[in-house]
Amino acid sequence: MPKSKPTVPLTTFILIVILTLLVRSQSAIPSRYDGFVYRKRAASTSTVFIEAFYDPVCPDSRGSWPPLKQALDHYGPALVSLIVHPFPLPYHDNAFITSRALHIVNELNASATYPLLDAFFKHQERFYNAQTSNMSREAVLDQVIGFASSTLGNSLHSAIKSGFNDSKTGIKTRVSFKYGCSRGVYGTPFFFVNGFLIPVSDDTIDYNGWRKIIDPLTNKQRHYPVNVL
Ligand SMILES: *[C@@H]1O[C@H](CO)[C@@H](O)[C@H](O)[C@H]1NC(C)=O
Ligand SMILES: *[C@@H]1O[C@H](CO)[C@@H](O)[C@H](O)[C@H]1NC(C)=O
Ligand SMILES: *[C@@H]1O[C@H](CO)[C@@H](O)[C@H](O)[C@H]1NC(C)=O
Repeated sequence: MPKSKPTVPLTTFILIVILTLLVRSQSAIPSRYDGFVYRKRAASTSTVFIEAFYDPVCPDSRGSWPPLKQALDHYGPALVSLIVHPFPLPYHDNAFITSRALHIVNELNASATYPLLDAFFKHQERFYNAQTSNMSREAVLDQVIGFASSTLGNSLHSAIKSGFNDSKTGIKTRVSFKYGCSRGVYGTPFFFVNGFLIPVSDDTIDYNGWRKIIDPLTNKQRHYPVNVL
């Protein structure tokens, strides 16, 4: 009889753990698929679907973007679509706030997201650890807000500023990070093509590299047009 005594609280405990996990995993699902759709063209499973995990202040992400963009423009939206997921690396001090700026701007005007990403890449040095090590968090935040609004139009300044005061944009940025983690992303850039990871390497995939990856897949699409409307 005394043997069975502890099983009741243990079962209850396990039940609570399971319920907690269920609730947690449910609340982690965002209302929309994470990330930014390139050129607002709906990403579609009838195209070759590329996902890029980028840190706006990562030099390797910056280096990999022009050849990928060139390849996307070569194929066009009917054949290839792209979603960029921000993935703020913890050892880049300003990765999270620059990623959050992308989420804020994407809410305000989705056409401005990629121009801002381009601008972060172009002037990335301003947001490196060494260049901001002397600055307070507030000063860096002001710099990011000022940079984003001068890039996209100063009329957006107050909207971007209040975006940083809105916890929802922080949650979105966390979701991006968690989503990357859930797919095994541990650095940037990481690329998935049709959901499959492109083997991680120190070499940047150049334009011809993308052609080698995408060409065979678009040929298959032409032979087996499953989703043509
Ligand atoms: C949205 O952003 C794009 C790119 O910066 C710009 O051309 C366009 O005018 C913006 N739209 C609005 C409504 O502000
Ligand atoms: C940081 O502050 C020190 C002292 O104020 C200054 O000498 C140095 O140049 C500053 N570094 C940067 C990167 O601004
Ligand atoms: C930030 O939000 C709080 C409450 O949510 C509000 O009282 C405050 O005025 C806001 N600050 C700015 C700068 O928007």
